[in-house]
Amino acid sequence: MRGKLISFEGCEGAGKTTKLRMLKEYLEEKGIPYLYTREPGGNPVSENIRAVILSPENAAMTPECEALLYAAARVQLLHDVIEPALAAGKLVVCDRYVDSSLAYQGEARGLGQDFVRKINSYAFENYLPDCTVFLDIPPERAFDRKHGADKNDRMEREGLAFHNKVYAGYLKIAGQEPKRFVRVDASGTKQETFEKVLSLLQSRGIL
Ligand SMILES: Nc1ncnc2c1ncn2[C@@H]1O[C@H](COP(=O)(O)OP(=O)(O)OP(=O)(O)O)[C@@H](O)[C@H]1O
Ligand SMILES: [Mg+2]
Repeated sequence: MRGKLISFEGCEGAGKTTKLRMLKEYLEEKGIPYLYTREPGGNPVSENIRAVILSPENAAMTPECEALLYAAARVQLLHDVIEPALAAGKLVVCDRYVDSSLAYQGEARGLGQDFVRKINSYAFENYLPDCTVFLDIPPERAFDRKHGADKNDRMEREGLAFHNKVYAGYLKIAGQEPKRFVRVDASGTKQETFEKVLSLLQSRGIL
């Protein structure tokens, strides 16, 4: 049987990687076959594209160029990593995916969701997640958790106004696609939030 695809979304420092680490431990304990990957990256070609996207040296990059690079890295990841894992029946868990492009490039950069959906049609048409966990915490509080932005990351260097637009973008998607893109209150402790994530995935028949 073909595997399922889930993604985790949220602002910088919302706790995606931490909750995914907890989920990986859970899946290992239960013996559930899974594949963990992250965006942008997850394979040699896409990791190289990631370095170009995130490098502060590329401050002159246009929003369109940025969006196309994310889409390009994603196609390679789908081809090299995600499709084979789904075909092998694994649960694929992705740290960021298409909704990051909708929120960051579509909403915060102002390119519009239509543009982002068009250049990512390969992903949207063939690999829409079975469930997306949106870790809901406003950017200001999330940045506090990670003790401020990473100055070596071109996206994180953007000011709070930009990250507030990203957050508003995520809330908009939650309103547009409430069945797939599910808001989880991420303001509590790691364990509290993880338990919310688990019960969501259990209620969806994913775990
Ligand atoms: N529920 C929580 N309560 C308190 N601190 C948390 C919680 N979840 C995560 N953290 C801490 O917040 C910091 C950021 O978490 P994490 O790296 O998981 O976020 P992220 O969403 O993956 O961020 P990024 O977008 O930068 O990859 C870490 O130091 C982590 O230990
Ligand atoms: Mg992370």
